[in-house]
Amino acid sequence: MNVCVIGTGYVGLVTGACLARLGHRVLCIDNNEAKVALLQQGQSPIHEPGLPEILQEAIAAGTLLFSTDLAAGVHHGEVIFVAVGTPSLPDGQTDMRYLHAVATGIGHHIDDRYRVIVNKSTVPIGSGDWLRTVAIDALKTSGNPHVPNFEVVSNPEFLREGSAVYDTFHPDRIVLGGNSERALAIMQDLYRDIVHRKYAEDPTLPPVPVVVTDLNSAETIKYAANAFLATKISFINEIANICERVGADVREVAHGIGLDSRIGSKFLRAGIGWGGSCFGKDVSALIRTATDYGYRAELLESCVRVNHNQRLVAIEKLQQVLKILKGKTIGLLGLTFKPDTDDMRDAPALTLIERLVELGAKVKAYDPIVSQSGMRDGFTNVVVETDAERLADGCDALVLVTEWAQFQTLDYPQMATLMNQPILIDGRNFLQRQILENAGFKYMGVGC
Ligand code: UDX
Ligand code: UDX
Repeated sequence: MNVCVIGTGYVGLVTGACLARLGHRVLCIDNNEAKVALLQQGQSPIHEPGLPEILQEAIAAGTLLFSTDLAAGVHHGEVIFVAVGTPSLPDGQTDMRYLHAVATGIGHHIDDRYRVIVNKSTVPIGSGDWLRTVAIDALKTSGNPHVPNFEVVSNPEFLREGSAVYDTFHPDRIVLGGNSERALAIMQDLYRDIVHRKYAEDPTLPPVPVVVTDLNSAETIKYAANAFLATKISFINEIANICERVGADVREVAHGIGLDSRIGSKFLRAGIGWGGSCFGKDVSALIRTATDYGYRAELLESCVRVNHNQRLVAIEKLQQVLKILKGKTIGLLGLTFKPDTDDMRDAPALTLIERLVELGAKVKAYDPIVSQSGMRDGFTNVVVETDAERLADGCDALVLVTEWAQFQTLDYPQMATLMNQPILIDGRNFLQRQILENAGFKYMGVGC
């Protein structure tokens, strides 16, 4: 099938490359010329395991092309995916500028041939119909001589950064929202090999469930899924705070409740809170939508509040052991919002840095993937070291912010000797207390 993907961010690029791997002819469009130039040379602008391999393979096979020419993309795609960003505005509303620009562009360039426009971006509930209206208005007002002959389908993504390629080939479910049987059948065909487990290690698995529903329900599924996961983490973080006060160990509690199949063991890792490009944005947008329709989403408001406070738990612990933070040097192990990604959007590390600087501390950091030049405006005051020992040198305490696998095997005894005070706050309960204590550290976890 001929597929166009508009927007080559995390979601669009992974989607485009994986669809090419399935054998579709994919043309990816992005208005960022530098990014497109990089992609045309087979280089990935993001760190995502498995992506460089499938990119290069599909480019070499000629099934994956990149361009800045939106008209060419719209002309090429029988199925046109829209995957431009939908960031939050300061009031929690979703910034629809990019989606509006793309819908308008589609309206300008689309012709009479039947097309399916697939909304992959996370959009406020009701946006599928809106996208259709914007495209039709643009078609009519731009002097485009063709009649509208397209349908909109919502196909939300559930990809986790760091395992986005794996998640694309092995999804728990595929959600398709729309009211056109023809468009929904085309989408089922597009994903046929994934549904029938062509890429599964265990080919006896039953087919991937496909949830076919209306547009509004599909859009709500995306928000509800992220809101539930964020709430599950805020829940276990609240339990962690209670554990600390009553002398229980949240890891034991999470294990004990997670074995109940009604609860499930995933997303019960307590720590210094969730971050990333999706949870904060999507929970805020859902709260905002509820408000617009006369409902106060109090549980979701609490989920966000608990998370904000949780990010500061590490500061409270630093104050407990160091008392005054002014003039102290604090080293952060990890900057990205989770391991195996280079993404720092809404990373808990950024909240920690802001608060530590406000309190007069000097902040250093080491991350396996983020270098000094990767620190954006407002965070350039953080010295990013090139290894963990340089980080430890002269620090009054370390805070493990991101659970990168290599942090398990650092030379902690050596690091302890380089520090002013060997203190480690493990914000992800990732290291073993005994090993750290044997290395000479005062070790503090979260909720244990
Ligand atoms: C995606 C989704 O689209 C978002 O709704 C979801 O909630 C999270 O995942 P992401 O892939 O992270 O967002 O977006 P981003 O990394 O910001 O990439 C968007 C891409 O679209 C960029 O490469 C940008 O250059 C491109 N773009 C933006 C266009 O090509 N045209 C535009 O008009 C605007
Ligand atoms: C999330 C959703 O999982 C994915 O389905 C959606 O499409 C995009 O948003 P992602 O943001 O890549 O994916 O990361 P995820 O693995 O969900 O982790 C989000 C945050 O929660 C991270 O900061 C992580 O450290 C934190 N987390 C996760 C915890 O604090 N505890 C846990 O048990 C799990």
